[in-house]
Amino acid sequence: MIRSKIIGTGAYVPDRVMTNFELESIVETSDKWIQERTGIKERRIALDGIPVSHLAFGAAERALKDAMLDPLDIDMIVLGTVTPDMPMPSTACIVQHKLGAARAAAFDVSAACSGFLYALSIGDQFIRSGMYRRVLVIGADMFSKFVDWSNRDTCVLFSDGAGAMLLEATTSKQESRIVKSTHLFSDGSQGDKLYIPGGGSLNPASHETLYDGLHYVKMRGNELFKIAVKAMVDACHVALEQNNLRVEDIDLVVPHQANIRIMEAIAKKLKIPMEKVMVTIDYYGNSSAATVPTAFDKARRVGKLQEGDTVLAVAFGAGVTWASSVIQW
Ligand code: ACO
Repeated sequence: MIRSKIIGTGAYVPDRVMTNFELESIVETSDKWIQERTGIKERRIALDGIPVSHLAFGAAERALKDAMLDPLDIDMIVLGTVTPDMPMPSTACIVQHKLGAARAAAFDVSAACSGFLYALSIGDQFIRSGMYRRVLVIGADMFSKFVDWSNRDTCVLFSDGAGAMLLEATTSKQESRIVKSTHLFSDGSQGDKLYIPGGGSLNPASHETLYDGLHYVKMRGNELFKIAVKAMVDACHVALEQNNLRVEDIDLVVPHQANIRIMEAIAKKLKIPMEKVMVTIDYYGNSSAATVPTAFDKARRVGKLQEGDTVLAVAFGAGVTWASSVIQW
């Protein structure tokens, strides 16, 4: 049986740190409110003129270095993003060119904050089917360019970042760095809970769409909160069941970082101690499709992820979409 082995990981966030105190001078908010209601202390924001492909390229380069792999060895690039450089070409193609990965097929996947796990699932299927040997999977987003910086409901939450994983086909029976399973879910009836109405074929960019603020993120945070908790808990149960795992078998949970209270609620419902949950929201905020791969990479670097660990990754985002994956490290 062919399976995907993770041969490299990488993350890249902008250097520019924006603290809650800085936000206090932009909108009517406070460091106390943001920390208490979201868990965020600071976030990374890209400078003007830096596109999301720059972050994705940075993460990919680091994953390639980690795997000691030549870009020409990549067969496919799958990039989860909803904040591409532009509608076309795909950001994956832009990254392919920047990397010099001339042999790779490249395309984007739109699943918002679940984008990385969707991309991972697609990459894993191409490897399992035998079609490709090496797939670069990236989650990258740049919400700083899509939030209304005068709206405190959203501008305090989102951030910019990118994370990547390199998958390689293996037929070995060894359970080391293996993508055991991926599970994808969607419910389009909840699409109005989080969306960007302008700039597509429904509301093409015009003076009116600009004036009406249709290019900014619209979010019903409260309603999303409840849906997100239930969906992610369900996705965790599916992942556990399909791998014949008990909750106690999980060594590390790598969840989407939308709100510390969402993560705490999931941990409580699953009866998993917070010590087993990777948290990066305090210093990185919600970087959408980038949260899971950057948190995974960070867990490796800080020693929170150990050889032999069973990892449960889970995400939720606009669509709405949600997803989970079990990785045997
Ligand atoms: N600073 C101070 N006060 C604020 C701020 C702020 N930044 N934002 C909102 N408030 C106020 C509100 O106006 C409200 O005031 P009121 O009671 O006078 O009306 C009060 O705080 C409470 O507002 P709520 O919306 O009820 O606050 P809540 O505790 O629900 O937190 C939040 C809001 C953080 C958005 C939360 O609902 C949340 O995290 N939701 C989930 C987000 C999510 O999951 N997104 C999906 C993934 S992201 C993706 O896919 C790209």
